[in-house]
Amino acid sequence: MNYMIKKPTEIKKMRISGKIAAEVLEMIEKYVRPNISTEDINQICHDYIIHEKKAISACLGYHGFPKSICTSINDVVCHGIPNKKKILKEGDIVNIDITIIKDNYHSDTSKMFLIGETSILSKRLCTIAQESLYRSLKLVQPGIPLYKIGETIQNYVENNNFSVVKEYCGHGIGRNFHEEPHILHYKNKDNNIVLKKDMIFTIEPMINSGNPQVRCMKDGWTVKTKDRSLSAQYEHTILVTEYGCEILTWRKNEKICQKLSNKN
Ligand code: MF3
Ligand code: CO
Ligand code: CO
Repeated sequence: MNYMIKKPTEIKKMRISGKIAAEVLEMIEKYVRPNISTEDINQICHDYIIHEKKAISACLGYHGFPKSICTSINDVVCHGIPNKKKILKEGDIVNIDITIIKDNYHSDTSKMFLIGETSILSKRLCTIAQESLYRSLKLVQPGIPLYKIGETIQNYVENNNFSVVKEYCGHGIGRNFHEEPHILHYKNKDNNIVLKKDMIFTIEPMINSGNPQVRCMKDGWTVKTKDRSLSAQYEHTILVTEYGCEILTWRKNEKICQKLSNKN
């Protein structure tokens, strides 16, 4: 269990790393408009990470992933590969997932961007996906069993008639991109791990408007919904604190506090 607890020196570095990943998402906002290609978005993020932030993209070359960020449009659930032929158009929803390394420490975050005027369904899907993440963040604190996170997300999402993707989960993060523990986004009572102060991990629910099943495309990366329904995802890297959590990848315009506390 102790190997999942970060030391103060590591936490300091994770705060710096997390802020940079958040800033990439803030920076790219104004470019995510109709007629830009996902390759151009990739290039702008890449240059910003390398030159402005003196950091590294963790995705580039990760198990052979060819680009610096993931861009997942509409029925793409995750791991979409930026491409100059993929042009954003009015009505699309796109997830941009950023993982950077600064001073040897990773941070991982993603959000949805709605392109121009989108359908009521698209808006609702994105809102529910974000709210499912927020609800799970609000219950994180030492002593909570890990399965509560998945239970909260799945109950909320299914009560809103959407479904949770089961194949991909959140993860511990630090010197490595993916560390223990696995953070499932659905009910799983056999997960006995109890949260402890100074754990750092991601929560990153993927929510479908139709069925939960997914398929990986022939490129070996792009994951789509099997029924071609829409999918949305939000991800944060968080630190478990004494009474709650601190969102290490918190963005300035978010409608949730960076530091959450359940102390009464
Ligand atoms: N950022 C993803 C995650 O949340 C992983 C992307 S791996 C890549 O865990 F190789 F596709 F970039
Ligand atoms: Co992640
Ligand atoms: Co990610």
